[in-house]
Amino acid sequence: MVLMYAIIQNDKTFAFNQKSNNLMRHLKARIKASGPMSVAEYMKEALTNPIDGYYMKRDVFGKDGDFITSPEVSQIFGESIGIWCLNEWMQCGSPSTVQLVELGPGRGTLSDDILRVFSQFQKMKDVVSVHLVEVSEKLSEIQEEKLKSQDSQTITETQPQTDETVSHYKHCKSKYGPNVYWYKQLADIPRKFSCFVANEFFDALPIYKFQKADGSWREVLHLSSSDKRDHLEVCPAAGVVIREIADRISQDGGTCLIADYGHDGDKTDTFRGFYKHQLHDVLKDPGRADLTADVDFSYLRHMAGDSVSIYGPVTQQQFLYNMGMVVRLKKLLDNAKPENRKDLVSGFEMLINPDKMGEKFKFFAMLPKKDKDHIPAGFVPSRAS
Ligand SMILES: C[S@@+](CC[C@H](N)C(=O)[O-])C[C@H]1O[C@@H](n2cnc3c(N)ncnc32)[C@H](O)[C@@H]1O
Repeated sequence: MVLMYAIIQNDKTFAFNQKSNNLMRHLKARIKASGPMSVAEYMKEALTNPIDGYYMKRDVFGKDGDFITSPEVSQIFGESIGIWCLNEWMQCGSPSTVQLVELGPGRGTLSDDILRVFSQFQKMKDVVSVHLVEVSEKLSEIQEEKLKSQDSQTITETQPQTDETVSHYKHCKSKYGPNVYWYKQLADIPRKFSCFVANEFFDALPIYKFQKADGSWREVLHLSSSDKRDHLEVCPAAGVVIREIADRISQDGGTCLIADYGHDGDKTDTFRGFYKHQLHDVLKDPGRADLTADVDFSYLRHMAGDSVSIYGPVTQQQFLYNMGMVVRLKKLLDNAKPENRKDLVSGFEMLINPDKMGEKFKFFAMLPKKDKDHIPAGFVPSRAS
């Protein structure tokens, strides 16, 4: 598919008038040499170009970065996901090996919080290993710093691993005991019972955009014939990942929990940039700002197919209430030093307030089809909600 971003933006030339950074020069040269570039190619280059991509060089999270994510706001977020995985693993009969697979782990905070929960349950601690899918070596170093045991050495694989079981690019022992392995892509992870988790990963995958012009789409789509929208964003990369997870869960066993901001097939133009916590022109300074698009959960459901049961999306507020996180907050407050209480309350409030992260962010789960009578924790309303 070839669709110039300039067309969608009502004929603004592709940022040619802006001061060039390295990536901009590279993109201009590509367009001059081989013609218009799709939005998806542009997004992929801006975020993950091996040299100048946004995620490849620095820590972009938190107050000094460009945006903040739920695991960075409060430990309650990661703990609720840890409890969810533990519960669903038990529901599956506590298999004797389990892989915790996190897609796009950022600073490693979510896996850290999940492992802390797992470490309270010896039976789980003894059988779990951690598998992180991270394209950015810089961020993988930050994850390693967070997760690594003091007395462990990180082994970096010096040559491409061809054996299916060792296709990671490095590994170490975590401070909680279980081993941690890093991969560039999901397909490299061994096929075993796995708990897949992802927060704000799918929104970073490249989208294609489709505009209705004179009553017809610029690109024909199977799933769009009955759609009332005149502008569409489609993320085939997300479709590929979700199908791979669905196949693995149905064949090897496992569970999947995804948290992201998104909609259920009713939004149109959501592609946007963030720089220093402010909205940012997506064409300006590629590689400097985060680019993101809301996740279309109806598309994920469609791509997952029939081999799995799907739950949600439910709002982050509903999920955290249903998981009993109010009780967890009370417990943390009881044990906290007085000077830390305010942060605990404001962090929780940020996660659940509908005007902050409570409604925009959604949870979506997949389980093997045979579990269809079982509704996973967090998706069943509790009395506390
Ligand atoms: C928005 S951050 C989310 C970070 C983290 N999950 C959190 O909640 O704090 C996106 C993460 O996905 C990684 N990422 C982006 N595109 C990727 C890709 N195609 N393959 C693997 N990782 C990717 C980024 O490097 C980063 O770690």
